[in-house]
Amino acid sequence: MSSGTLTVSKIMNGTVIDHIPAGRALDVLRLLGITGKEKLRVAVLMNVESQKLGRKDIIKIEGKFLEAKELDLIALVAPNATINIIENYEVKKKFKVRLPEIVEDLVRCPNTTCISNKEREPVKPRHRKIREDPLEFECLYCGTIVRVS
Ligand code: CTP
Ligand code: ZN
Repeated sequence: MSSGTLTVSKIMNGTVIDHIPAGRALDVLRLLGITGKEKLRVAVLMNVESQKLGRKDIIKIEGKFLEAKELDLIALVAPNATINIIENYEVKKKFKVRLPEIVEDLVRCPNTTCISNKEREPVKPRHRKIREDPLEFECLYCGTIVRVS
């Protein structure tokens, strides 16, 4: 191993979240609700060299395959993340996360009087993506703008 590299073993079955902006890996884990108490085997690499990004973070989770909702949550803090599905040590699928134009139940409207914040109303938050960088959404119910990143 040369100086300046950090080697972490390959995983057998699970998910590698690659190309996370440097320093955001813990935000991704928090959004996924992974605290370490789930007993999942997780490797987190922070600020490692990347051809494309200069520096990046990587998360490897043994035995976990992500749901669509979890992929959307990752896209909130790591819009260019690559998801690698590993099976039997091989990369079986590789794709980029991508937020749809309309997101449901992903971000909350900051307007406390918005109908999507009323517990009695069976209304899920719905937002339209209006800007990529910085990421911004508009509440479909009250028009309030939410900035995420
Ligand atoms: N990986 C892993 N365990 C495996 C296979 C791959 O942890 N059994 C990790 C690699 O270490 C890498 C990522 O999954 O961080 C993607 O693997 P691969 O596609 O082989 O690497 P690259 O070609 O460098 O990926 P990209 O072109 O997307 O940057
Ligand atoms: Zn609203």
